[in-house]
Amino acid sequence: MDEFHYRRGILHCEGVPAAEVAKKAGTPCYVYSRATFEQHYRRLAEAFAPACPLLCFSVKCCSNLSILRLLVSMGSGMDVVSGGELLRARRAGCDPSKIVYAGVGKSDAEIKLALQEGIGLFNVESEMEFENLARIAKELGVSTRAALRVNPDVDPKTHRYTTTGKRESKFGVDLERAEAFFARYGADPLVSLRGIHLHIGSPVYTTDPYLESVVKALALIDRLAIGGIAIDTLDLGGGFGADYESDQSPVAAEYATAILPLLVPRVQPSQPAGRTPLKVVLEPGRAIAANAGILLTRVEYVKQSGDRTFAICDAGMHSLLRPSHYGAFHFVWPVAPGEALVPTRRARELVMPGLVRTEVVGPLCETGDFIAEDRLLPSVTRGDLLAVYTAGAYGMTMASRYNSHPLPAEVLVDGSTISIIRRRESYADLIAHEEV
Ligand SMILES: Cc1ncc(COP(=O)(O)O)c(C=O)c1O
Repeated sequence: MDEFHYRRGILHCEGVPAAEVAKKAGTPCYVYSRATFEQHYRRLAEAFAPACPLLCFSVKCCSNLSILRLLVSMGSGMDVVSGGELLRARRAGCDPSKIVYAGVGKSDAEIKLALQEGIGLFNVESEMEFENLARIAKELGVSTRAALRVNPDVDPKTHRYTTTGKRESKFGVDLERAEAFFARYGADPLVSLRGIHLHIGSPVYTTDPYLESVVKALALIDRLAIGGIAIDTLDLGGGFGADYESDQSPVAAEYATAILPLLVPRVQPSQPAGRTPLKVVLEPGRAIAANAGILLTRVEYVKQSGDRTFAICDAGMHSLLRPSHYGAFHFVWPVAPGEALVPTRRARELVMPGLVRTEVVGPLCETGDFIAEDRLLPSVTRGDLLAVYTAGAYGMTMASRYNSHPLPAEVLVDGSTISIIRRRESYADLIAHEEV
């Protein structure tokens, strides 16, 4: 699953004790394992190799430049959703032709920047956006490529906030409108509209929603071909799961085994008459990053309220929003529980002697400020370090400065080397933009 293991009762990231990272970087801090990033990227790339996909890492899930550089060095492209993410992808050295750009609200300035950078593909989400893109391309006198994001109306069976491919979602256009869309815009002289983009939601823990949406997308591609529109790109988006609990998610090979039989025949250079070979794009985020990171936090105080025990930590919803925003589960365990209390799995309830029902909460003035509710944990005390697992995706990128807490540090561990890849913000950083 990842390179966060207990050795003699002490949590290590690769070869480094977690406490050593906390000593160097302070808490709260995000700790990433380079080896885990590499393994997860490689597993996806190998599993889907028969479809020769372009893997575009979803920058929104973990956008630190050092992480992006690592993935670029492995051949990854980037999936971006803003001018800021585009800047990060380019700063990390990503070839612009390997950048795909989605998002329902691209501003004129962002579109202009992306056109000037020469990105590979705009994933267009509405008629108005296409017209705006075509207008700006004409003004600049540049050409580009686009895919239409369609909603296959498939239920990914995930949280409603991250369900994105249903008919009523704000993303893309309904499948039924797609043919009219291509009829209207398919001959634009500067924006070559030759792709279909899907992103049904995330995390998607079964393969069926992918199959259903790919079947619908291929049927659309065939209908468009009959009408003389040759689609050459199919971008399946992201959403492959991660192990928030042990063995929760299908592994890369399981997703690939299910989806590839539909894709492989369509990517072959020679196709039956009337069909165009497809270039496949994938936009994985959490499947690569989530298990590659933990959040380290220190217990400031322990207190009783009624019959509940609270471990009040220096990380909260401002450091990791997912539990309070989506009710997401993150396994939490002390960094030094001792050999008798090393967790055997990452699960909601572990049966071990002496565990205490604990609310793991943050320092903010919100009752919704929690990391884990009603958890059986080894007894903790002031000064203990806790690890919040599977925090490498949508952790730091969703962190805020709420209650004026500076943003955490980020650390990359490579074997026995600790590198601070984002320094902890200072109070000076916190107010820098207001000193006007
Ligand atoms: C368009 C698009 N692609 C890819 C992703 C990445 O999803 P995940 O990190 O679950 O793989 C997202 C996530 O929101 C997305 O909106």
